[in-house]
Amino acid sequence: MNTKLSPDERADLVMKDMTLDEKIQLLHGNGMPMFDPLTPVTAMSNRGGGYVIGIPRLGIPAIDMCDAAYGVRGSGTNGRYSTALPADVALAASWDTAAAFDYGALIGRELRAQGYNMSLGGGVDLTRDPRNGRTFEYLGEDPVLAGTMAAKLIQGTESQHILGDIKHYAFNDQESGRGAADVHIGERAARESDLLAFEIGVEQGYPAGVMCAYNRVNGLFSCENSYLLKEVLKHDWKFPGFVLSDWGGTHSLEKASAAGLDHEEGGSFFYGERYKAAVQSGSIPMSELDEHVHRILRSMFAAGIIDYPQRRSVVDPFAGLVVARTIEEDAIVLLKNERGTLPLDARKIQSIAVIGAHSDVGMISGGGSAQVDPPGENAFVASAQAPTPPNVEVWFPTSPLKAIQERAPHAAVQYNSGTDPAAAAAMAKRADVAIVFAYQWESEGKDLPNLSLPLHQDDLIAQVAAANPHTIVVLETGSPVTMPWVNAPAAILEAWYAGSDGANAVANVLFGTVNPSGKLPNTFPESEADLPRPTLVKPPLASVRFSGPVSPLERAAGLPPFTVDYNEGVEVGYKWYDAEKKSVLFPFGYGLSYSSYRYSDLTVTSGKTITATFTLANTGARAGAEIAEIYASLPAGAQEPPKRLVGWSKVRLNAGEQRTVTVEMDPKYLSIFDVQKDQWMLVPGDYTILVGGSSQDLPLRTVVHLR
Ligand code: GLC
Repeated sequence: MNTKLSPDERADLVMKDMTLDEKIQLLHGNGMPMFDPLTPVTAMSNRGGGYVIGIPRLGIPAIDMCDAAYGVRGSGTNGRYSTALPADVALAASWDTAAAFDYGALIGRELRAQGYNMSLGGGVDLTRDPRNGRTFEYLGEDPVLAGTMAAKLIQGTESQHILGDIKHYAFNDQESGRGAADVHIGERAARESDLLAFEIGVEQGYPAGVMCAYNRVNGLFSCENSYLLKEVLKHDWKFPGFVLSDWGGTHSLEKASAAGLDHEEGGSFFYGERYKAAVQSGSIPMSELDEHVHRILRSMFAAGIIDYPQRRSVVDPFAGLVVARTIEEDAIVLLKNERGTLPLDARKIQSIAVIGAHSDVGMISGGGSAQVDPPGENAFVASAQAPTPPNVEVWFPTSPLKAIQERAPHAAVQYNSGTDPAAAAAMAKRADVAIVFAYQWESEGKDLPNLSLPLHQDDLIAQVAAANPHTIVVLETGSPVTMPWVNAPAAILEAWYAGSDGANAVANVLFGTVNPSGKLPNTFPESEADLPRPTLVKPPLASVRFSGPVSPLERAAGLPPFTVDYNEGVEVGYKWYDAEKKSVLFPFGYGLSYSSYRYSDLTVTSGKTITATFTLANTGARAGAEIAEIYASLPAGAQEPPKRLVGWSKVRLNAGEQRTVTVEMDPKYLSIFDVQKDQWMLVPGDYTILVGGSSQDLPLRTVVHLR
């Protein structure tokens, strides 16, 4: 307990006294109480996603894990309350690194209050395919934005003495057949795309755990892939923590252990008695077991869960609502605003039609293992009290209708469910303004069939917009959506999954209390036909014969491996559309404001650091925040896509104010990954640096020679 010693020294001291059984005990989970009540041990747990028995004799606490992508999962099981933050993709849309820290810190506080000491959040797989059912849980298509935001989120969580996590390592970029998909991608493309997001997240976020993914990468399961786990993560990135498998993602004993898997979750099929026998028979050297145990123990010391054991307390719902609302207000992206339709003037409006997406009672949230339980019942569909099963739509009791009524007390505000578009259009026709809420629900375990809004919502929007020229569309989506009606409404907002206080955040933007500043972390394509894989590669319907010990989950999945070729390589998102010269509906980095901004006077200096300096002015009539984006086009010899994001700054400016903005660019973000030399290399030559408010609106450019 000598805190003057390093986490590694302290771990070594404890290990001297550990028995073989105690070492094995740290190497695996004990089931997942929600799904297999036959795991009596977890009765001692807090009934979260995972539980590792502690060693009270040596003062080592249990590790009580819980999913926490956008809030503490399953809090309903222990009769508690958790804040649902806006979905992670919304956080990415804020481009606000301070908000990312606050996001993670709130999750850390609420995990501790509920008795947990490890988060299973931190998803950062790139949105390589926007139909991925977990797009809402991730941080967009660009590795620099996603990695930076993930790092800050993890720092925030770990600031609360919670073991942080980053996942799913790596290339778990689709949900269909995730347990059998074999992703193929070249090494340089891998290092410059998905792995760069993890590299930034690990090197800047210091997570305790890296959760390896279900899928194979270039033929080998992620959780027994020594290239991913040893060569890249532990050697190149010097990761000191531990690799835990996704639940049921462990597929072997000696092979996984030698490849660098430190801990099996959710059960102990391989890393329990079988592991002990392997050590006793000598087929696994004690030194290998000690390496795994050391990484787990040193992480527990480093995170502070031994020096600051968690004490159950009470979540502060009101503080949580403030954080959720503030982040959502900064995450909402204004996609269209014609004829000054927004912000609405409550003093002038006489009548408002509010339509669709159960906006009278609630707002949608993301499903799967990320699902946060709403307070009380599911706002829209009466379902069993928590835990909400992982595959139903869960609506939070935050009512846009109520929030709009509160801000327009003199207006006649009417609601229509939108199930009958003609009736909704008739009501819209009679109102000054029509606000249509439309949603697209997504969840772990399955991908979207397409990027269209489901349930005939396209038709609803088209009919309402035809009936009222002052129609505003508010989207509650996790992924980009196609918009056949895009020219019809006067205004469009992307509100994502808006969180526990989403209605107030949306209303504050609609009525101008808040000036929207979010920008898209994912490209909105015109059509699925423009995607690198227009048709999602799905698992073949066939059974498979197993040989040797097989984890129950793999047997249950029972799918033969199938290959998904990431031929687009590093060209993820806007890099693909740029390289293929395809037009898009709304580009990466795009978002409007109630103000306007002017960019001027760009200079770039290169020396110890590479720095861009420019002037940004708020030429609008009200204060606002502008995300100024910096891209680089590398020398032709680098053979890279037309441009890449290399930095940004979110600048808050009063009306008429102008400021000199300086952004340092990490040379790594201007480099290529040289596979032969196994390192990042800056290609000597002329670099074009571009600055502006969207990936397709870059008014400033200059050329700088780098060597
Ligand atoms: C799930 C998810 C993972 C989650 C874990 C525990 O299958 O893939 O993100 O943390 O199991 O619920």
